[in-house]
Amino acid sequence: MSVLTDEMRSVAEQIVAKYPNRRSAALPLLFLVQSVEGHVTDSGMRDVADILGLTPAEVLATGSFYTMLKKKPQGEYLISVCRNISCTHLGAHKVFDAAREKLGIEPGGTTPDGRFSLEAAECLATCDGAPSMQINYEDFYKVTPSEVVEIIDSLAAGKDVKSVAGETVRPAKDIAFETATAGLDLPHETADTRERLVGGESPPSDMAPGHRPVVPGIDAPPAEGGGS
Ligand code: FES
Repeated sequence: MSVLTDEMRSVAEQIVAKYPNRRSAALPLLFLVQSVEGHVTDSGMRDVADILGLTPAEVLATGSFYTMLKKKPQGEYLISVCRNISCTHLGAHKVFDAAREKLGIEPGGTTPDGRFSLEAAECLATCDGAPSMQINYEDFYKVTPSEVVEIIDSLAAGKDVKSVAGETVRPAKDIAFETATAGLDLPHETADTRERLVGGESPPSDMAPGHRPVVPGIDAPPAEGGGS
């Protein structure tokens, strides 16, 4: 059964049009599936294969390499606690244990209500903020055990939680949709909504994935509706 509605297939075609070859759009289309299903399902992979003219095995081979593409159901909020050297020295294990006890799940697990997943992460490249944590890829620095519990309580209560960069932590499906459609001028997108994109940064369409600058004298201007 198809998981992408006609509306989503129309978005998929806009994504495909940004690339010189249809198959190059495999990753953003897998994020589009994740924005609908919460993870990359078999049906979603078949949809992507159908749209791109690939086999499901080829789509799987592409998507299996990327950890941000989830192969099993994951929570609305993914809590990633760094367990690498700097963070471990500064007490990451206590943060991790507090999150594990609060949520009642083990690393790699998801709460039965589907709201939270917990994972031990490798270095998040924010060692100066150790112990570091991310929630849906937004950064939190110098996290204490009581702080992680407070953050979980706030998210569970539907309250706004902000990262160190002042970005609101947003649900995983929203992040997946924004990743899939980066650089597209969607009808509902405004300058204001763009500001809320991942990490507070949304690439303009002439810098987004799939953009190819036209070299005068060598390239023809892109055809109306994009290439294939
Ligand atoms: S060791 Fe934790 S962010 Fe680098």
